[in-house]
Amino acid sequence: MNRMRNANTSKKLAVLVFVFLIAYSTSYSEYGDVVLDRYKDTMAEVGLAPVVFPHWTHRIQFKCKACHEGIFPMKKGASDITMSAIIDGEFCGNCHNGKIAWDPLYCDRCHSLTETEDKQ
Ligand code: HEC
Ligand code: HEC
Ligand code: HEC
Repeated sequence: MNRMRNANTSKKLAVLVFVFLIAYSTSYSEYGDVVLDRYKDTMAEVGLAPVVFPHWTHRIQFKCKACHEGIFPMKKGASDITMSAIIDGEFCGNCHNGKIAWDPLYCDRCHSLTETEDKQ
């Protein structure tokens, strides 16, 4: 009897943990940082870390439609972003052009993924 109850409790616990993990991972990608690492190898070759896009800091300053879907589809990894496109004023370069926000000269501000974040 006691054992049955324990089994039930841990089953419930497992379901709870599962639900929590799903909820957490969804909100994390929607509100938290988005790692952009399609060009991981190219960036490593020039000694740069993958990009961390701080979604939240942008979301508190802009409406969603400032970026979605005109500049970026609402899907992680959907855009093929290159530096020449950014310098030409596309993607991040719509704003990181020295006018709306600082220009794309400060590599480390965007290429900022640290080893510890990488392992999460
Ligand atoms: C300054 C630009 C910007 C603003 C403003 C912005 N986003 Fe995003 N969003 C992005 C970028 C960049 C990505 C990542 C796209 C990629 O990986 O190709 C993204 C990704 C997403 C994703 C996909 C996440 C995933 O893990 O698949 C969702 C959902 C999303 N945004 C929702 C929103 C909502 C809702 C708002 C407004 C409340 C918003 N965004 C405002 C730039 C923005
Ligand atoms: C709609 C305009 C817009 C777009 C598009 C945009 N940014 Fe920004 N971003 C800003 C503004 C405005 C700031 C704040 C600038 C300041 O504080 O001087 C900012 C700040 C940042 C910061 C610093 C955040 C902090 O914690 O201070 C990073 C990093 C950044 N952007 C990366 C990116 C990357 C990477 C992309 C493309 C994937 C991007 N941004 C696209 C407008 C934009
Ligand atoms: C405003 C943010 C931002 C800044 C500043 C920035 N980058 Fe990037 N960079 C990106 C994003 C976003 C990508 C796409 C990453 C991916 O999807 O793999 C990228 C990709 C790259 C790539 C690989 C793709 C390609 O075009 O070959 C290289 C190399 C690169 N950046 C170099 C640099 C250098 C060098 C600097 C400084 C002079 C710099 N970046 C500054 C956002 C930035």
